[in-house]
Amino acid sequence: MQELRVAIIGTGTISNRHMKVWGNIPQVKVVAAAEINEPKLKAWGERYHFNEKDLYTDFREMLKRDDIDAVDVCVHNNLHTPVSMYVMKAGYPCYSEKPMSASYFDSKLLYDCAKATGQKLAIQISSLYSAQTYIAKQVLNAGKLGNVYHARMATASHRRRNAVDRAALFSSPDFRDAYMAGHGQIVDLGIYHFGQMLYLLGLPELDSVLGKLHQGVEMPNEEWAKSHPMTVEDMGVGFATFKNGLSLELQEASAVNKDDHMDHHILGSKGGLYWGMTDDFGGDWSMGGGGGPMGGGGLPGPLQPQLYYRGQDEFGYDVTIDYHAYENQQDLKTYKPEMMQWFDNQLHWYNYLTGKLTDETRYNTPLIGLNVSLLTDGLVLSAEMGRAVTADEIKVNSKSLAIWKQETPWGVFDYDASL
Ligand SMILES: NC(=O)c1ccc[n+]([C@@H]2O[C@H](COP(=O)([O-])OP(=O)(O)OC[C@H]3O[C@@H](n4cnc5c(N)ncnc54)[C@H](O)[C@@H]3O)[C@@H](O)[C@H]2O)c1
Repeated sequence: MQELRVAIIGTGTISNRHMKVWGNIPQVKVVAAAEINEPKLKAWGERYHFNEKDLYTDFREMLKRDDIDAVDVCVHNNLHTPVSMYVMKAGYPCYSEKPMSASYFDSKLLYDCAKATGQKLAIQISSLYSAQTYIAKQVLNAGKLGNVYHARMATASHRRRNAVDRAALFSSPDFRDAYMAGHGQIVDLGIYHFGQMLYLLGLPELDSVLGKLHQGVEMPNEEWAKSHPMTVEDMGVGFATFKNGLSLELQEASAVNKDDHMDHHILGSKGGLYWGMTDDFGGDWSMGGGGGPMGGGGLPGPLQPQLYYRGQDEFGYDVTIDYHAYENQQDLKTYKPEMMQWFDNQLHWYNYLTGKLTDETRYNTPLIGLNVSLLTDGLVLSAEMGRAVTADEIKVNSKSLAIWKQETPWGVFDYDASL
């Protein structure tokens, strides 16, 4: 199998999980990393036994090397488009963290840049790499639902009250900062849920969106919370319609005064699909062992992926089928290792870069990400205008939220938005 030499930009929380997963793919060698925070970079380099010469505070210098095949971008949301565009224009295929970006405008730029440069772009949308997605697509493709007319994605999962504050304490405060993140849960976990749903529904053409954003839950009054003001919404709700007649209800929350909940379903004339808890954090392969998401830990018991079908059997009886998604995923991995690429996003990208997956067969995550951005920007625009908005209005009114001039300890990094 072909060796792939990867460079990482941004050595924050999520880069550690990327390192763990790259470690599972023997053909991938991470050869260099860049990070503007020098102490963080040094500690990271020591953790993974890097030579000092392979660690950079300016990623643009790193990209001048001649031994890099591909670049893994782990910076925060509003830098995804500027940094990933830079990477592709410098001649590298790019794997960018989610969300694709925080606005349709920025996602479209990134999408167009991949087309203009001819570089292979992938966005990390881990919910696609689950047995739930794989099985649900098979069931839909087989026509088991008949005419699909309505779907719902409603989630406040893995994130109970004040979870974004926990992120400020234990992970990155950038999650609660509009300048860095663009938006809150609608883009943070929204990409996972809306991305999975839009993919399953066949990326239908959006017609209109009615939405509302809230900063509903009272935030703590403690010093750490005050020093990182929460400037993003904690909940987005909405209702979307599509040109093919489909309707979709949306709710995405990072903090609610109730238990975690999830109600994802797809309704058709002959049957319905509905979800149990889902694996939001990453391909299960990356999750072996205990611990939390950034350590690459296992899912807590109640969060095992589940998928159910309700319809009629061949005798005309009402039945409910439990697809035992988690168990089937484990079995497929064990007995059909070639299936592994559908359950691990980084392996999927490796196989795409090395030709085992093609533009036709891979998960087209840039296109899925673009469709998600149109939907989430619809929630934003509709909330601003106080009425439902059309897809055309969203496209015309969408603005860049990206950071095109980044202040760093090493001077201003000036990014170029031209294609
Ligand atoms: N933390 C998680 O659990 C998690 C899970 C999935 C996806 N993500 C996504 O990953 C991205 C990063 O999240 P994180 O939690 O790792 O954030 P983080 O703040 O811990 O890490 C981002 C790092 O990028 C560095 N950086 C910023 N600009 C840079 C530049 N120009 N060059 C080099 N380095 C630069 C920052 O200094 C920081 O160390 C976000 O978009 C997030 O949505 C995070």
